[in-house]
Amino acid sequence: MFWYALAASALLGQHVSAQNMLRFACSQLTVERADPLVTPGQSPAPHTHQIVGGNSFNLTMEPAKYDPPSKSTCTTCTYSEDFSNYWTASLYFKSPENGTFQRVPQYANVGLQQDGGMTVYYMPYSAKNNKMTAFKPGFRMIAGDPMSKKNNRASICHRCLGNGEGFAPCDAKDTGELPNKYCPKGIRATIIFPSCWDGKNLDSPDHKSHVAYSNSGGLGSTNCPSTHPVAIPQVMYEIMWDTGKYKNNAYYGANKQPFVYSFGDGTGFGQHGDYLFGWKDDSLQKAMDALPSGKCANANCSVLKIQSGKDSMTCKKAQQVVEDVGKDGAWISQLPGGMPVTY
Ligand SMILES: *[C@@H]1O[C@H](CO)[C@@H](O)[C@H](O)[C@H]1NC(C)=O
Ligand SMILES: *[C@@H]1O[C@H](CO)[C@@H](O)[C@H](O)[C@H]1NC(C)=O
Ligand SMILES: *[C@@H]1O[C@H](CO)[C@@H](O)[C@H](O)[C@H]1NC(C)=O
Repeated sequence: MFWYALAASALLGQHVSAQNMLRFACSQLTVERADPLVTPGQSPAPHTHQIVGGNSFNLTMEPAKYDPPSKSTCTTCTYSEDFSNYWTASLYFKSPENGTFQRVPQYANVGLQQDGGMTVYYMPYSAKNNKMTAFKPGFRMIAGDPMSKKNNRASICHRCLGNGEGFAPCDAKDTGELPNKYCPKGIRATIIFPSCWDGKNLDSPDHKSHVAYSNSGGLGSTNCPSTHPVAIPQVMYEIMWDTGKYKNNAYYGANKQPFVYSFGDGTGFGQHGDYLFGWKDDSLQKAMDALPSGKCANANCSVLKIQSGKDSMTCKKAQQVVEDVGKDGAWISQLPGGMPVTY
């Protein structure tokens, strides 16, 4: 069961017709130390990211000049008109025995076919009269903050899978930090972006101020603040980490768990996501307009072009920042870039 079957009626109390959303798979495009949003042009960027979406992803992607739909020849996402790039930090297991690192493998989310990457959502919670304004070319934003040592569970959260399901993302049963117990079915990291926009700026110096949450973070409502009055699709990422093989009671306990994000964060509070819009023409707007009709939902939106899981998985991009970021179960002696681990 998907969480929103419950969320729709019990938690959000909106009209059922407004509850359709996009939920689709984006396979891994590349894993490397690149960040065209925070450190454009810098090679290598400070920490490793796992990147999905259009294969025009590059170290520099200047807003309004660099056009992903015309530069890309494929995308790793289900919807073949979506050349956006979505990226997050990678997760590593730090061996409590000897301090070496192994990049944690990923797996496909419920009902989806994908190779690593993430599940991407576009949700209508701030729509008024079923209307949302899709992003414009050049739009980008960040949710979360790698420097954060504070719990921001409403927007950035982790779920220890195998302990009951079917509730809304970043619910009180989730944790802002990485779970301090063994998660037999994996850890799901969730990143919820803001759902309100200032209506003017495609970006802002902190990549955040041009957008806002309608509530105190987390899933949106129709109450966008007057400073950010425009309802935009609420983007959410889910990343499935396959932690089942790290079973050893000695690894877990009060304030203790063996995982660390690629930027050295052993708490998980600094998890963050980057979004760079790249849908072709007005395809995203058409999809958002079609949500209430029922003709467009999840990975089966009839007004969009859909590619097979197999085709999306064949879209790959070689690392531009060539280095060992921890391949297929291999051990590395330090995090890429030598990021120190902090708790
Ligand atoms: C990516 O950037 C490199 C270096 O600036 C450039 O040579 C290349 O053409 C870019 N790729 C695309 C798809 O534009
Ligand atoms: C380090 O410890 C892990 C288990 O935590 C083990 O699988 C790995 O082989 C060890 N590596 C070395 C170099 O001892
Ligand atoms: C997609 O929607 C069509 C038309 O409603 C339906 O026939 C088909 O079974 C759906 N496919 C999936 C994967 O849900």
